Amino acid sequence: MEVKIFNDAQEIAVAAAELFTDIINNKNDAVLGLATGATPVPTYEKLIEAYEQGKVSFKDVRTFNLDEYCDLPKDDKNSYYTFMHENLFNKVDIKEENVNFLDGNVEDWEQESKRYADAMAAVGGIDIQLLGIGTNGHIGFNEPADAFTDESFKVTLTQSTIDSNQKYFGEVPMPRYALTMGIGSIMRAKKILLIATGASKAEAIKGMIKGGVTPKLPASVLNEHSDVIVMLDKEAASLL
Ligand code: F6R
Repeated sequence: MEVKIFNDAQEIAVAAAELFTDIINNKNDAVLGLATGATPVPTYEKLIEAYEQGKVSFKDVRTFNLDEYCDLPKDDKNSYYTFMHENLFNKVDIKEENVNFLDGNVEDWEQESKRYADAMAAVGGIDIQLLGIGTNGHIGFNEPADAFTDESFKVTLTQSTIDSNQKYFGEVPMPRYALTMGIGSIMRAKKILLIATGASKAEAIKGMIKGGVTPKLPASVLNEHSDVIVMLDKEAASLL
């Protein structure tokens, strides 16, 4: 695990976008694993800038998002499908047919998990997976648990995650379930970039880097992957 510490979120965004741009420019049909949440937004802004400046094209890029809420229409303003379109896909030249999401409204999530795994395998796997981290150490929506998960599954969101994300839904109660890539799906990515900013992430980052590998802090599993870069701002790195 290579840990890089930056002054602030903007510096991380520049470095993360450069890494993605290099990967896409080396392989025009790169397969990107993408995350939602507040942390990657500045990185997506830098990628849009790079696209506008002609430094990168998403014409042949394929993407797989980490997770999606259950029981929320795909085009709801709070779905991750909408989030990704508003924050990246609508602003670059990616083709809609190359964009992949778990469908949180299926009846049979096990069948959906298999469909997603097969779709990832069919394009040769994920070249680079972008991750944020929850204050409880979750990656995707893999919450602290007794065992690591493998392929995508349906998760009951923890109170800590609901407390962090309810703000986006205002007065409407947010969904209690989501479909998420499992730890196995994430670990099969060839390269992983985890970014974390702000003091609220410092405890989880300390646990991930110094606490040993445990499903009680899901991000700690990344210590077992051979190609992980962690980009932190000073606040997120403050307990290291
Ligand atoms: C989002 C995701 C989550 C977030 C995490 C941090 O697709 O999978 O694991 O990365 O909850 O969220 P932010 O960046 O909002 O602090």
